[in-house]
Amino acid sequence: MESVFRNATIVLPDEVVTGSVRVADGMIAAIDSGASQLGEDLGGDLLIPGLVELHTDHLENHYRPRPGVYWNPLGALQAHDVQIAGSGITTVFDAVRIGSDPDMPGMGDHVQVLVDAIATGMADGRLRAEHMIHLRCELPSHDVVDDFERFCGLPLVKLASVMDHTPGQRQFQTVSKYRQYYQNRLRLSEAEMDAYIEERHAEQATYSARHRRAIIRRGLEAGIAFASHDDATDAHVAESVADGVSIAEFPTTMIAAEHSHQAGLAVLMGAPNVVRGGSHSGNIAAVDLAREGCLDVLSSDYVPGALIQAAFQLPALTGNVTLPEAIRMVSSTPAKAAHLDDRGEIVVGKRADLVRVRLHGDMPVIKSVWRAGQRVS
Ligand SMILES: [Fe+2]
Repeated sequence: MESVFRNATIVLPDEVVTGSVRVADGMIAAIDSGASQLGEDLGGDLLIPGLVELHTDHLENHYRPRPGVYWNPLGALQAHDVQIAGSGITTVFDAVRIGSDPDMPGMGDHVQVLVDAIATGMADGRLRAEHMIHLRCELPSHDVVDDFERFCGLPLVKLASVMDHTPGQRQFQTVSKYRQYYQNRLRLSEAEMDAYIEERHAEQATYSARHRRAIIRRGLEAGIAFASHDDATDAHVAESVADGVSIAEFPTTMIAAEHSHQAGLAVLMGAPNVVRGGSHSGNIAAVDLAREGCLDVLSSDYVPGALIQAAFQLPALTGNVTLPEAIRMVSSTPAKAAHLDDRGEIVVGKRADLVRVRLHGDMPVIKSVWRAGQRVS
C-alpha cells in the first residue's frame, strides 16, 4: 500500500518545493526535495493538500433543486459528492439548517433525511470525500433547540453555527437591506412584508438569547466546535469569545473581523466573495480582510469550485498573501478550527489527502484527487 508522486511542485505549510511525496498506508510517509526516478511523474504539476470545507449549502441545493421539489436524498448526496471531490475537497462539512422557517416548516424532518443519507453513504463507503455535518442553527426559530437536541449527539455532527437573521442587524444591517433582499424572493406585498418583519422581531425577542444559551451549552458538552455567524459589533465578538466559539463565520464589518482574529477565532469568509470581488449581500470584501491579515479560512459556501479558485487568486489580488498562506486558509486552518488534527497539510504523519493541480493562466485545473492515499477523482 505504497505510492510515490515525483517531479511535483509541492505546496508545504510555509514554502513551495520541487520533489516527491511518498504515501504509505494512507499517510504521508516522506517528502524529498530534488529529482527522483521512482513513482508517478506529475510533470511539474502542483501538489497541494486536500481542501477542507466547513460550510457548504450545496447538498441542500441538490436535495431541494426547486421550491417544493425534493430529490432522492442518496442521489442528491452522490451528485453533490462528485462535485465536491472534483473540486479538490477531501473533507466536507455539509451544512444543514435547523429551526423551521415560516416558509419552510418541518425543517427537522428534512434534515433527518439528509443526515441519514450521509450516515449511510459514509458507512457503506460510496462517497469520495469524507463528509461530516455542520448544523446551522437559526436562533429565533421556535423549534431550533428541539432539532439541535435530536442531532447533536450523532458522531458525524462536529460543527454548529449560531445564526440570527432578524432584519436590522448582522447580515442585514438595515431593515431596508433585508426588504430589498427578501421581498421579491418571498413574493410579499408591502403590507405583508411589514407584518413579516414585525413577526421576525417578535420571534427574536422571545427566543434568540435563550436558544443561544441552550444550544451552546449542550453543544460544548457534546464536543462540537462552534462558529458565530454574521458578527457585526464588538458586543457580538465579545459574546462569541465568552461562549467558547472557535470560528467567526462571515463577519459583516471590518471591526468584527479584526477583533475576532485578534481574539484567536478563525475568521471565515466566502470564497465566492473573493472570486466575485465582494459580498453578494453588500457587506465587507474578503480580499480586504486578507490584505489586513485577518482572514483565516475560506469556504466555498454556495459554489464548490470557488474554494480552489479563490485560494489561487488570493496572492495576486492581495499582493501580500503567499500561495502557502492562501492554501492554509482552505486546508490546515479549517481542519484545526474544526478539531481535526490528522489532516490538512503535506507533512509527514498527516493523512495523504492530496490534490494535483495544473494552472491554465491563473485558473487552477484539478487533475487528480486522493483521499487517504486512494484516488477519488
Ligand atoms: Fe447569514
